[in-house]
Amino acid sequence: MARVSRLICLSGDLMDGGDALRFVLDDGRPAFVQRWHGQVHAYVNSCAHVPVELDWNPGKLLDDSGEWLICATHGALYAPDSGECVAGPCAGRRLQALRLTEENGEVHFHDNEGMADE
Ligand code: FES
Repeated sequence: MARVSRLICLSGDLMDGGDALRFVLDDGRPAFVQRWHGQVHAYVNSCAHVPVELDWNPGKLLDDSGEWLICATHGALYAPDSGECVAGPCAGRRLQALRLTEENGEVHFHDNEGMADE
């Protein structure tokens, strides 16, 4: 039976506005978790414009302002807390959000389909 929850990292591993942490879903799709304004958010790491990973340098997902996730390929900007594309070739579309919880210093991913070890 597929797992429904998995420890991704410790809370202290994610600095607010710092690098994202990458992980892999069971179906092989890359994903990431980012702390932004104190909250953790996770998305499938695939641009809504063309299905490529957003980051050229692993985990470097925020733009210079620290306010937007940016796709390194064509510069689409995404709201870190909703995944909505606010500027660029896919404006109005969004990243696929993943469900997380953060409790007792741990960040867990929840998915009925489970996920693979990286
Ligand atoms: S592939 Fe991301 S903006 Fe074009």
